[in-house]
Amino acid sequence: MFPLNRNRRLRSTQSIRSLVQETSVTPKDFQAPLFVVEGENKKEEIASMPGYFRYSLDLLSKEVKEIWQLGIGSVLLFVKVEENLKDNAGKEAVNPDGLMQRAIKTVKNAVPEMLVMTDVALDPYSKYGHDGIVENGRIVNDASVEALAKMAVSHAQAGANFVAPSDMMDGRILIMRQALEQEGFENTGIMSYSAKYASAFYGPFRDALDSAPVDAKDIPKDKKTYQMDPANRSEAIREAQMDIEEGADIVMVKPGLCYLDIVRDLKNAVNAPISVYQVSGEYAMIKAAGEKGWLDENAVMLEQITAIKRAGADFMATYFAKDAAKLLQ
Ligand code: PBG
Repeated sequence: MFPLNRNRRLRSTQSIRSLVQETSVTPKDFQAPLFVVEGENKKEEIASMPGYFRYSLDLLSKEVKEIWQLGIGSVLLFVKVEENLKDNAGKEAVNPDGLMQRAIKTVKNAVPEMLVMTDVALDPYSKYGHDGIVENGRIVNDASVEALAKMAVSHAQAGANFVAPSDMMDGRILIMRQALEQEGFENTGIMSYSAKYASAFYGPFRDALDSAPVDAKDIPKDKKTYQMDPANRSEAIREAQMDIEEGADIVMVKPGLCYLDIVRDLKNAVNAPISVYQVSGEYAMIKAAGEKGWLDENAVMLEQITAIKRAGADFMATYFAKDAAKLLQ
């Protein structure tokens, strides 16, 4: 008696494995997050993200050209805001000469074809480290949405191709879409962080931007009243469907690895491109285990980004964008 099927035949050589491979990842699937800081000649390594840096604008151009040359066509911009410019309402967020607005122009000057997406949320600008405006110990929804819509328009004016609201306030996509249309930015897209979980994996990012919720009286210590409960699944579908109805072009799931069931749920339930954010804590874990010699960093990284794609992501934001692109060449 012999087995009727020998699945190992399809695994026996690299050539046959390549032919039957179901998922492939290319540099085109990546979006590179970029952290920008005020000043000159600054390339500051983020302590909890070894090998990842904050760049001043003069060094940003070179980095952007390198990213483009590796075949990566999009960046996602974040800024580290000076402490004295922070307030509760995020006034600096709409400064036409602000760091974000100048960063957008710097990227576009360096590589005009680079697709520029910008993070829209108040936390880097908030003296309380929250994504919206804080009043009486609560993050108020509608006033925050108004501020975020103005922020989105300001990014569009500076030349952003897409805005990426990461704040998780209710109704923000609709108000943002309307504001963009009203100001003549009908071609500026919206990538919504639709299923964004209240995750402990954002720690290193908050170090990078110094944007963690502050520890003070009457200030919520976490973001659980707006970001989603990691225990919830059907709610993610509802969030994504609502965002699409409100005008989102792309919906995102964040973080990546722990939420790949959600990615597949959305893939089955909604008809829009899906992006995944492999976040700072995921990067830090792989780096740390790699440094210790406990895991093969590159192999684990490629396995994870392949899994993200296999789960249903059309593309992903990842701090490994450059490293992975180099390995895939
Ligand atoms: C801001 C924002 C965060 C991230 C992206 N946009 C942090 C947060 O919500 O606290 C996290 C990204 C990462 O961890 O890599 N709203």
